[in-house]
Amino acid sequence: MMKKLLLLTVVGLYTLTSHGQKKTVDQRVDSVLRLMTLEEKVGQMNQYNGPWAATGPLTNDDKLLDQIREGKVGSMLNATGVARTRELQQLALQSRLKIPLLFGQDVIHGYRTIFPIPLAEAASWDMDAIRQSARIAATEVSAAGVHWTFAPMVDIARDPRWGRVMEGAGEDPYLGSMIATARVKGFQGNGYGKTDAVMACAKHFAAYGAAVGGRDYNSVDMSLRQLHEVYLPPFKSAADAGVATFMNSFNDLNGIPATGNSYLQRDLLKGQWKFKGFVVSDWGSVGEMINHGFSKDNYEAAMQAANAGSDMDMESRSYIQHLVKLVKEGKVKMTVIDDAVRRILKKKFEMGLFDDPFRYCNEEREKAQWNNPAHLSAAREMAKKSIVLLKNNGVLPLAKNSGAPRTIALIGPFARAKSDNLGFWSYDWPDDSARIISVFEGVQRKTGPDTRLLYAKGCNVNDTSTAGFAEAIAAASQADIIILTVGEARDMTGEAKSRSSIRLPGVQEELAKAIIATGKPVVVLISAGRPLVFNHIADNAPAVVYTWWLGTQAGDAIADVLFGDYNPSGKLPMTFPLTEGQIPIYYNYYSTGRPATSDSDRFYRSAYTDLSLYPKYPFGFGKSYTTFEYSDIQLSKKTFSAKEKTDVTVTVKNTGNYDGEEVVQLYIRDITGSVVRPVKELKGFRKIWLAKGESKEVVFTLSVDDLRFYNDKLQYIYEPGDFVVYVGGNSREVKEAGFTLLK
Ligand code: GLC
Repeated sequence: MMKKLLLLTVVGLYTLTSHGQKKTVDQRVDSVLRLMTLEEKVGQMNQYNGPWAATGPLTNDDKLLDQIREGKVGSMLNATGVARTRELQQLALQSRLKIPLLFGQDVIHGYRTIFPIPLAEAASWDMDAIRQSARIAATEVSAAGVHWTFAPMVDIARDPRWGRVMEGAGEDPYLGSMIATARVKGFQGNGYGKTDAVMACAKHFAAYGAAVGGRDYNSVDMSLRQLHEVYLPPFKSAADAGVATFMNSFNDLNGIPATGNSYLQRDLLKGQWKFKGFVVSDWGSVGEMINHGFSKDNYEAAMQAANAGSDMDMESRSYIQHLVKLVKEGKVKMTVIDDAVRRILKKKFEMGLFDDPFRYCNEEREKAQWNNPAHLSAAREMAKKSIVLLKNNGVLPLAKNSGAPRTIALIGPFARAKSDNLGFWSYDWPDDSARIISVFEGVQRKTGPDTRLLYAKGCNVNDTSTAGFAEAIAAASQADIIILTVGEARDMTGEAKSRSSIRLPGVQEELAKAIIATGKPVVVLISAGRPLVFNHIADNAPAVVYTWWLGTQAGDAIADVLFGDYNPSGKLPMTFPLTEGQIPIYYNYYSTGRPATSDSDRFYRSAYTDLSLYPKYPFGFGKSYTTFEYSDIQLSKKTFSAKEKTDVTVTVKNTGNYDGEEVVQLYIRDITGSVVRPVKELKGFRKIWLAKGESKEVVFTLSVDDLRFYNDKLQYIYEPGDFVVYVGGNSREVKEAGFTLLK
């Protein structure tokens, strides 16, 4: 009875004023804060990984459960499932103040149903589909007792040697910002207090994707202008979309580790942007400031991180071991601790966890969301839209029924692959072999009795054996059509997976050469988490389809495209280099004093003497089974003032034989500025559907806000002058028109 009374008293404190009025969330937070000891406050700033799965260097700690009981843990990660989260929550409620735990998890592109990797989804340029993908992921993982996903990863990346390009939205700030917004809204749904929603987390703050040499965890050094122009916009969009939390990054930025960087976390995020959520460190990044040579020891690291605005320490134990002492010694003010704890408690209140710590622990809901067929069909839709057609000499689409006996040979290490379709940051479930659709199964389900399917692996993903070539060539010789699958295994791109060579691993290129040399119609499918270099295939195969890692429904989505049930519409969110030597290469570069306009310009734009200027495939590139023709650009105003706007109109016509979608892209160039401006900047896009023969007028409205940039004083300004506007189906094949912004 006493226990119940205590619980009611404590809960009552949390919810009602002395006059019996319902407290605001801030009042409820303060009512808890007032009761907390310094040790309990520090406990809320401490996040542990469960010993069940590790996404970083694991340090086993057998006192973990005791510490939860003692109120020394505010959050856990990698603890999922209603049963496990309920058990841990029950432990937390044995603590003096019964403050519930937050459970966080890396749900980057799906939980039970795995969606295409984020870079693939970015290729869809379909914000509704991307939002829906995050919505479903949130529905599934919140049913598993989880409150918080460490996503979206919004790091702009221009270097495909960096393994984590798979996790983001590519190289462009505008596209990346649109996608950050879509993902935050998808994860957080109609408010992260709803039990089908989770808190989202914008990561990794900041500029983690600019690591020198594309080597993960490496240093980042850039002007604040570059930081604001290129790397911060998606974070600002996430903050504007109401993202609940941020996660900082492993890298040092201009000499100061992000985890200890008060410019980023206090001046910018919590100051200028007025961010009210909390910041969690990345795994161990507080303690890693010792390795950076920024902190002498964990004591100093804890001081620097807390004072710089890192509210929660993931797995380094620096806070739980040193913050109490630091406060007592005056090295960290109590106001710093109180601010961090307020931010964390506020989210727990907003998630409804104080009212009901078990509201996400619902076995029926967990069961209902575990095999939701609607999720599988949504994953198939998302996967279809993520596929990019790079080349097609007419061999695609394939006929479903050829009307006469035919043989299709499926060759390559991914033809029957299952879990490799899931990509990095995914989850393995016992029934995956039945749930994940392989390419072979997808093709099988599309074709009828007149089609004989052959299969030959040909080679492994990443070894030197060519023992399988003969069988593969034999299968190819019997086939009318060959579908060749090559690419990366799911763990070859992702965290700590930077590669100096981004070619096809093993002997896959050799296998491809042998198969293409048969002269048969070969369709090459490339399954990867990043842009790869595959010039022989690109130049010699009749058709090339970039299928990324498409998730649980990969095989069916690929077959939908191969057999024409879906006309591919994907556009590359990253530039594909000709070779590693071209990196970094991206579309929004500066002109320089010697802009090269062709490969013959040698004394220009630092062109290589041994390599073309141009990438293999430009940003925004992707083909369709049909063709689209763009009219000249019409401008409603060729000159306009800052108070006016201009409408940019093009007519797009489907001039081919298939209905299809086109991503109409709009870029601008500011010809002259007080700082040099990129030769192109994406400022708008529309994904339109056109029946064959149909034309549509597409109108973009440009205002002065589309022309703003950061000047050398970090002011976000616009400047009068001449501009060029470009519209087209990729960043290179465009129509253009000039306009002038008046003073
Ligand atoms: C990892 C990643 C981060 C992830 C965290 C928890 O090291 O850098 O993206 O959310 O640790 O798994």
